[in-house]
Amino acid sequence: MDGINFDPGSIFLLDLPHKIKSKIKVMKNKKNNVGASRQTRIAVIGTGMVGSSFAYAAMIKGLAAELILIDVSEEREMGEVMDLSHGLIGTETGKVSGGDFSDCQDVDIIVITAGAAQKPGETRLDLVSKNVKIMDSIIKKMGKLRDDTVVLVVSNPVYILAYVARERIKLPNKGQVFGTGTALDTSRLRYIMSQKLGVNLHNVHGYVFGEHGDSEFVAWSLANVSSMPAKKLLTAKQMKAIEKQTMRAAYEIIQRKRATYYGIGVVITEIVEAVLHDKKMILPVSTVPGAAYGIKDMSIGVPAVIGRGGVEKVWKLPLTAGEMKQLKTSAALLKKTFKGVK
Ligand SMILES: NC(=O)c1ccc[n+]([C@@H]2O[C@H](COP(=O)([O-])OP(=O)(O)OC[C@H]3O[C@@H](n4cnc5c(N)ncnc54)[C@H](O)[C@@H]3O)[C@@H](O)[C@H]2O)c1
Repeated sequence: MDGINFDPGSIFLLDLPHKIKSKIKVMKNKKNNVGASRQTRIAVIGTGMVGSSFAYAAMIKGLAAELILIDVSEEREMGEVMDLSHGLIGTETGKVSGGDFSDCQDVDIIVITAGAAQKPGETRLDLVSKNVKIMDSIIKKMGKLRDDTVVLVVSNPVYILAYVARERIKLPNKGQVFGTGTALDTSRLRYIMSQKLGVNLHNVHGYVFGEHGDSEFVAWSLANVSSMPAKKLLTAKQMKAIEKQTMRAAYEIIQRKRATYYGIGVVITEIVEAVLHDKKMILPVSTVPGAAYGIKDMSIGVPAVIGRGGVEKVWKLPLTAGEMKQLKTSAALLKKTFKGVK
């Protein structure tokens, strides 16, 4: 038996004993998609704070016909499916369902947010071994994916997990698997600069490069506000303070509310939308930069053109010699960490 269908609106299921509940497959994907194989589907693996925040934002934005939530905790997964489904009425999204890992074999994009979250005082590097094991188990359980599926890794340490996933998931092009990289950090940078300068953040341009962690840096030589170089608008001291605030943001939030999730939830929607709508948007994500930045065997945050094929091209920018050195130093640090967990 495949399991019975579960209507998230029905209360009866809540009254069933736990033993029976755990045997019920929540809205089996296969059964609910008869004749709908062309519909856009997003799978979200890990329905904790980040996964559910993304799902909520994606549902409101109507990014896909169906969102499939997958978590090792069936209770958590079911709770999120129910809660989100009750808000479908105000969105253009067709369905939110719970699924198995094998349901990833027929989706457009898989967003991986499963794993342990950063604890107060813990660096992202501390999480590495724990989350590489989780990533490996997920890859095994997903099985063979559709050739056009894109995989977006969010779990930390994102550069290492994106690299592991890129190397171990079998898809036609390596660019189909990448991580959120420094997209969140860049979003924070643009917001903080916009506040400092009293302009809209969409007029603030620039990128955080590197780790998505302690060795990341702002490429100040390229940052600008509507074509005006940032260096002409900010003093060296102000730039240093903005960079520090950007880098410390995650720690500051975690200290106050244990985890960061709304910001990243929306940033993921921007990346997913760039993929599903083939927008060719240049976003700073974790990918292997290759010849563009002279880094061949590690994923790191660099700008890249994001379209239906995932990372379609690494966007080469003329970093200064000093910035290039910072990028190489950051990559060397990540490689050193990765060596320990292989
Ligand atoms: N890339 C970024 O910019 C960024 C930003 C914020 C958080 N994160 C990372 O995202 C991840 C999730 O954070 P969170 O706050 O949602 O954590 P969380 O603890 O709230 O949720 C993690 C979820 O993953 C599930 N899970 C664990 N192992 C699993 C497995 N093998 N398969 C499926 N599900 C599994 C858990 O049951 C839980 O529901 C963390 O690694 C965190 O550091 C990344």
